[in-house]
Amino acid sequence: MNRHLAVAAVIAAAALTLTGCTKPGNPASPGTNTSGSTPAVTLVAPGTLTVCTNPPFPPLEDVDASGKVVGFDLDLMGVVADALGAKVNVIQAEFSQITSGAVFAAKKCDIGASGITINDARKQAVTFSRPYFSATQALAVKSDSGITGLDGLSGKTVAVQTDTTGADYADANKDKYGYTVMVFDDAGTALNSLLSGRAQAAIVDKAVVYSFVASNPTTQVATEFQTGELYGFAAKGNDANATALIGLVNDALAKADTDGTYLRIYKTWIDPLATTAPLPPA
Ligand code: ARG
Repeated sequence: MNRHLAVAAVIAAAALTLTGCTKPGNPASPGTNTSGSTPAVTLVAPGTLTVCTNPPFPPLEDVDASGKVVGFDLDLMGVVADALGAKVNVIQAEFSQITSGAVFAAKKCDIGASGITINDARKQAVTFSRPYFSATQALAVKSDSGITGLDGLSGKTVAVQTDTTGADYADANKDKYGYTVMVFDDAGTALNSLLSGRAQAAIVDKAVVYSFVASNPTTQVATEFQTGELYGFAAKGNDANATALIGLVNDALAKADTDGTYLRIYKTWIDPLATTAPLPPA
């Protein structure tokens, strides 16, 4: 067992003994750090990894028929929680509240798992894990629209989710191609605007667009844009406790990669036929 996971096990044991303690923000393991170098991780609710996410964004996160938030991100959070000896509690939050770090400042959650693209602006506000998934943007259209790319969008309306890299990409290209950007609170509403006719195209992360067109046969993927994005899990910025938590997340991801857990979760949510699914390089 590597050192971080050994520490995590100690933390988990300590957290279990603290379940009677309800004051949020109490250290999970005061005085139990025997390694001398890795700080103890404090969880906002002892014994629970509280995860902020912004569904619907299937297959990364979606609300199932029973109201539970499920998906690739949540299964990976389950792996992290197991390493911590904690259970998972999912909180739904506005996407910008996660990437700005507001949810962490307010002690609403320990970690954000929401298909968050790692970029420099966000690095100023939150602490990112190693990359765990590669992404690009894709253009979704109605199948009968004849639209094959941005150059077919003059005078048309393009739907995006607010405060996302897809919105940035749409904004950066709108003058050149002469379309209007329509901003929606969540990715599901942005994509559904194709069906209602409010927008003629939508720019959203590729995996989510493919999931949408698979369940909406009147729509198709017009093209992909090679934006070269990588998703990371996010925690509080510039904070020793969050840095320690992210260290445990990185260790849990590396272990999930070597022991096949990452591939199993990838096959469950992303591609059932995948035979390999390596983590993007750290
Ligand atoms: N990857 C994009 C970004 O970071 C979109 C993420 C939106 N996530 C979500 N759960 N709605 O901006």
